[in-house]
Amino acid sequence: MFSPRPRISTAPDLHVVDGLTSFERALDQPLMVGLFLPHQQGAWSPSKAPRDTDWSFAYNAECAVQADEMGFDLVFALAQWLAKDGYGGEIKFRANALDPFVASAGLAPLTKNVLLISTVHVLYGLHPLHVAKYGAVIDHMSGGRWGINVVTGYKEKEPRMFGLEPIGRDERYERASEFTELMKLLWTRDENLDFDGRWWSTGQAFVAPKPLNRLPVLVNAASSGAGLNYATSYSDLIFTTSPAGADPEKTCQSLPDRVRHIKAMAKEKGRNIRVLINPHVICRSTDAEAWEWRDRILAERDWVATENFAADFLGGDQDSWRGHSLENWSVGGNVHLVGSPTTIVNWMVRLKETGIDGVQINFFDFLPDLACFREKVWPLMFEAGLRN
Ligand SMILES: Cc1cc2nc3c(=O)[nH]c(=O)nc-3n(C[C@H](O)[C@H](O)[C@H](O)COP(=O)(O)O)c2cc1C
Repeated sequence: MFSPRPRISTAPDLHVVDGLTSFERALDQPLMVGLFLPHQQGAWSPSKAPRDTDWSFAYNAECAVQADEMGFDLVFALAQWLAKDGYGGEIKFRANALDPFVASAGLAPLTKNVLLISTVHVLYGLHPLHVAKYGAVIDHMSGGRWGINVVTGYKEKEPRMFGLEPIGRDERYERASEFTELMKLLWTRDENLDFDGRWWSTGQAFVAPKPLNRLPVLVNAASSGAGLNYATSYSDLIFTTSPAGADPEKTCQSLPDRVRHIKAMAKEKGRNIRVLINPHVICRSTDAEAWEWRDRILAERDWVATENFAADFLGGDQDSWRGHSLENWSVGGNVHLVGSPTTIVNWMVRLKETGIDGVQINFFDFLPDLACFREKVWPLMFEAGLRN
């Protein structure tokens, strides 16, 4: 079992290096780089191919600490609410999972520079005052490095777990807008707040301490018209999916229109939004070895888990994942980058050329793959001008 090094930082002040906060330094990079933490059992790949990746906090902390030491800009994990055995199969895919809001608090004193982005379903019973307060506390624990990925939940089963009826998409984003407005008021107002909204109200509510940055980093991962309207109104970062499935060539051809559309929507509102995609990186010394390993991940897929996983993502009230095939889902989510270190960096350059501002990387076997990335791919990214 991996154990995080004891490097507790208890920074009550805004963490600044060379006059810049962690978020400002991230924005300064030619290509932002994040690590998609494996909070879920099996992470992104419903395959039985051998690996040691583990959903435990110790394993995730080790990943986050290493990403932080390398100089990654952010770490992030998704949040899903699944019933017993998760997506099932022999591997009980995603049966156990950490919660990213809680886990981010644990990562705060173990990391120094990296942004900690917590995914939170804001429509499952939490009050904006709860999230504003809990977020402000993690922000303080981390020296102003906390951000929130606001998700509205598109699977009918999830709200039912909370005894709630599913809500149509447009209304979900209207509610998320009110939720976000209220959080922002609570983070920025220096007086008690009386708020009388359509879905939430407060009487003399106050949050102290305020986040060190005043406003934490706001993130979203929408695709629909209503979702993009929300994201371009409030979010600093948006995660997007490949419109053309996992193939990187097709992804690079189809992404520019999407990225242009998102940025134009933000610009109309006088805002600047950064678009990130999450590539699944399978890197070996040569292209042939990388493809051999990718084929093994695919061949050893857990069929039951894969079919349940794909059905969940392809179903539901969402637009993001329609272009992804069953085979794509067997290997991992979103665009697949397979090859030697040089090939991987060439694909990163191509992705940047689509207008993408950053990559949120996931792996099959996180710690060894991250170590290999650190040794062989990371230096090439600097040489290619993707990092400074
Ligand atoms: C990288 C990435 C991470 C995401 N993480 C989550 C998550 O943790 N939980 C969740 O419910 N939705 C998450 N989403 C969002 C949904 O998968 C889906 O993309 C979104 O709801 C679709 O947008 P729409 O609601 O506008 O149709 C994520 C999306 C992406 C691209």
